[in-house]
Amino acid sequence: MHEDIPGTVKNTRSKIDSSPAASIRGDMLRTTRWEELGNKDPRVPPAFVIEFSPDAHTSSACERYGIALPSQLHHAVAKRQAEFIMGRLAAHQAIERLGIAASTPGIGASREPLWQAGVTGSISHTDDIAAAIAVPAPTVTGVGIDIEKVPNAETRDAIRALALTPDEQRLMEARRGHLTTNMLLITGFSAKESFFKGVFAVVGRYFDFDAVRVSGLDADAGRLTLTLRQTLCPSLVEGRSFEVGFKTLARDTVATSFVW
Ligand SMILES: CC(C)(COP(=O)(O)OP(=O)(O)OC[C@H]1O[C@@H](n2cnc3c(N)ncnc32)[C@H](O)[C@@H]1OP(=O)(O)O)[C@@H](O)C(=O)NCCC(=O)NCCS
Repeated sequence: MHEDIPGTVKNTRSKIDSSPAASIRGDMLRTTRWEELGNKDPRVPPAFVIEFSPDAHTSSACERYGIALPSQLHHAVAKRQAEFIMGRLAAHQAIERLGIAASTPGIGASREPLWQAGVTGSISHTDDIAAAIAVPAPTVTGVGIDIEKVPNAETRDAIRALALTPDEQRLMEARRGHLTTNMLLITGFSAKESFFKGVFAVVGRYFDFDAVRVSGLDADAGRLTLTLRQTLCPSLVEGRSFEVGFKTLARDTVATSFVW
């Protein structure tokens, strides 16, 4: 899925069990340049990406990787446990890459990751990829990443109805460049999810997809513009625009990233 990425983290490989039951393979623990998640902001270090097999998840994975499974996930399906563990492992590694002692992020009341003092970041996962980015907190106001795969037709219809207005869809269609209809759809959706994650700590509450609109798209440059339709808080006022970067990771997979 990814190019041959420089910076494979060799000193963490010892944490990876090479037994057949291992839920991630030793060669799948990678750093990826921030640009590969679609954003070129120099303030932000590379994301940490793990490709994993959710089928191979075992309860011993927590112990193996030193990630505590929170009580609310003890009875979750294996897929959810696996993505949580891999997301937290990616976050832990991303923090360590900053050269500081890492604590695994906790879980906030709205499911947001709670980063240790001095660090902010973002986590995303699909059924077989987990990614996290960690940034020294004073450097940025917020950061959000999101990875989406093209879902089935029913979910695509739901995204069309809930996340993007007909006007937004028309604007994106007119500037689609090389993007297929399905990729266009999940790119717009994912951009809003990245934006949400990146501003949540400042806004402090959930808000709907209609809070921002897609107001621009440069498909070749991998840039999408979001404009606030409403004032969310004093620093996020109606009319303010932000760029979200995006990158096609595979034929059916997009990564978006937002930093402010
Ligand atoms: C929270 C949400 C953005 C997560 O996105 P997703 O595509 O479902 O899932 P991803 O795998 O990409 O990301 C999940 C991770 O996001 C992080 N996350 C969850 N809630 C979050 C929040 N409120 N703020 C920041 N990050 C959050 C978590 O780390 C989570 O992983 P974890 O539960 O294993 O810790 C999404 O489920 C949601 O609720 N969206 C509605 C709100 C929204 O996007 N509004 C649009 C505003 S324009």
